[in-house]
Amino acid sequence: MHVVWDISVILQTFIICTSSAQPITSKLDGSWWAYKDVVQGSFVPVPSFWGLVNSAWNLCAIGKRQSPIDIETSHMIFDPYLTPLRLNTGGRKMGGTMYNTGKHVSLRPDKAHLVNISGGPLGYSYRLEEVRLHFGSEDSQGSEHLLNGQGFPGEVQLIHYNQDLYTNYSEAAKSPYGIAVVSIFIKLSENSNTFLNRMLNRDTITRINYKHDAFLLMGMNIADLYPDTTRYITYEGSITIPPCYETATWILINKPVYVTQMQMHSLRLLSQNEPYKIFLSMSDNTRPTQPLLQRCIRTNINFSKQGRDCPNNRALRPQYRGNMEDK
Ligand SMILES: *[C@@H]1O[C@H](CO)[C@@H](O)[C@H](O)[C@H]1NC(C)=O
Ligand SMILES: *[C@@H]1O[C@H](CO)[C@@H](O)[C@H](O)[C@H]1NC(C)=O
Ligand SMILES: *[C@@H]1O[C@H](CO)[C@@H](O)[C@H](O)[C@H]1NC(C)=O
Repeated sequence: MHVVWDISVILQTFIICTSSAQPITSKLDGSWWAYKDVVQGSFVPVPSFWGLVNSAWNLCAIGKRQSPIDIETSHMIFDPYLTPLRLNTGGRKMGGTMYNTGKHVSLRPDKAHLVNISGGPLGYSYRLEEVRLHFGSEDSQGSEHLLNGQGFPGEVQLIHYNQDLYTNYSEAAKSPYGIAVVSIFIKLSENSNTFLNRMLNRDTITRINYKHDAFLLMGMNIADLYPDTTRYITYEGSITIPPCYETATWILINKPVYVTQMQMHSLRLLSQNEPYKIFLSMSDNTRPTQPLLQRCIRTNINFSKQGRDCPNNRALRPQYRGNMEDK
């Protein structure tokens, strides 16, 4: 009760402070949110305020199946019924447009090149809607998910919607079993992942320096983005931006992908703003981790230690495991 009361007082103060300047309702559009405070300029809600400024975003504050989370490997449960994830590209390369959205680097496949995933924890077929990059201002942070409390320099999220049940992403995002996100941690190395190298080489990334910049890429093979492993970790969560709908099945691949230090540097030089506005680095575009609460973290990694039981788990003899491949 104490915490709830505190937050409502803060919110009231905020409404009183801002209402004289501009009516708050005019700000209630889908993009009126931010990851971090800006030093100057008008108030834009950071993650702790997302659920308080717009009633349609309630789940960001009161949801109980929110993402991202800190993956504690000691809480993982081996589920022998989890099959490998299936990627279907129809054997074709894809084209897409890469955008600076002001918040993320985003690659959207064009409609002529459909890619879908199925299998694993998924009961339906999910079509790729967007490849999104999160990254940090320092190498120790930048991923949305953490592993045993530790962050990575970045995280690639492949966002898919359920194409069996829904006609488009917006409808799926607010509906049961709507979304499947494949998440891959980004680490630094001398050589970079073939797919990410196409997006992040100097000639390409500098085309999207500013908000709303876009650049067309062709001949991309999404299979190149996937590390060479069938192992993953999965849990039921939410989309990590407002309205935080709790419709996402997360699949975290058990191996990272690599980019070079130079490519990470180029990412940090992207601006959240248009060219005529002050430079504000896009880095640290991450939502803080959310409580796991009663949820299970399942994995297809077999390990021998016996674990506690999990209500959602189909495994008769659930087991634990404590390490990530190639961490
Ligand atoms: C998991 O590993 C244990 C010990 O290595 C083995 O006995 C068991 O058959 C494995 N289970 C599955 C489903 O692969
Ligand atoms: C998945 O994608 C492949 C290749 O584009 C396509 O042929 C197939 O029909 C899709 N599956 C479904 C269920 O739509
Ligand atoms: C998505 O599909 C719904 C239901 O068919 C439709 O009403 C809506 O206009 C579509 N939205 C977009 C952005 O295409």
